[in-house]
Amino acid sequence: MIDPQGRWEVLRERAEARLRTCLPHQGGDLERLESAMAYVLLGGGKRVRPVLVYAAGEALGAPLEHLDGPACAVECIHAYSLVHDDLPAMDDDDLRRGRPTCHRAYDEATAILAGDALQALAFQLLADDTHTPLPDAIRLAMTRTLAEAAGAAGMVGGQAIDLGAVGRTLDEARLTRMHRLKTGALIEASVVLGALAAGAGEDDLAHLRRYARAIGLAFQVQDDILDVTASTEEMGKTQGADAQVGKPTYVTLLGLDGARKAAGELRDEARESLAAIPGDTALLAWLADYIVRRRQ
Ligand code: IPE
Ligand code: IPE
Ligand code: MG
Ligand code: MG
Ligand code: MG
Repeated sequence: MIDPQGRWEVLRERAEARLRTCLPHQGGDLERLESAMAYVLLGGGKRVRPVLVYAAGEALGAPLEHLDGPACAVECIHAYSLVHDDLPAMDDDDLRRGRPTCHRAYDEATAILAGDALQALAFQLLADDTHTPLPDAIRLAMTRTLAEAAGAAGMVGGQAIDLGAVGRTLDEARLTRMHRLKTGALIEASVVLGALAAGAGEDDLAHLRRYARAIGLAFQVQDDILDVTASTEEMGKTQGADAQVGKPTYVTLLGLDGARKAAGELRDEARESLAAIPGDTALLAWLADYIVRRRQ
């Protein structure tokens, strides 16, 4: 069995290195836009989603070279989602990953465009067989998976529900749906992209989906917990931002202990889902733990 912590560090480093190679460098009159894209994509972050692509793919036997494209693609979508999430029209945040948010470091129009361009880049990476050297049918399935997870039925839909819920109370079913869409969908897609690259069969895919749905929801529950328990320095983003604008969260719904209990149950469900998968799932199991004990 692999050493999961060591493997996590190796794969995180690989994601960093690959992300550095995917950005455009035309320069000239595109310099400011390209600089903002690099600021956003290379400016830190835990790289949980690319590592999930690698971890799921590796567990089912895919070589890492087949996973670089989808790993970078999913991080491009994530980075764009953060840039837009921080805009004044949305969460209006000044700090992200320990630095000024993109619209603060540049300007709002540049931040919107850098997000747009990162979204397009994600699909370019899947379409381009030098980044994703896999058969067309697999790249098409990956494109569909990522598009669904990023769009109205996934992250963007969740963000719309989130913004419509400010100052309101949501019941558990509605809050769970919002979290599954705005955060869970992209995390689930990360695992599925890794599995698709490995040519996973229906059974493995179903177990991995169950794992991914559980950690995807757990990830946002922990994000809600950190908003009230971690410091601005630990998180690299402003503490108490949800409470300040009256966002419904797992903590406002269930209290801190209730939210912690829910996160722990989701972690257990995720780990149980791995039992039926034949490969080495030690890193996936470790990631389920990491997601609910992280402090950033
Ligand atoms: C933050 O995601 C936004 C949510 C979906 C909760 P991460 O906590 O993965 O942010 P980075 O990439 O590490 O900065
Ligand atoms: C963000 O949720 C989900 C996204 C799709 C970006 P949050 O608004 O809670 O994320 P943070 O706390 O700003 O990172
Ligand atoms: Mg938000
Ligand atoms: Mg936010
Ligand atoms: Mg948050």
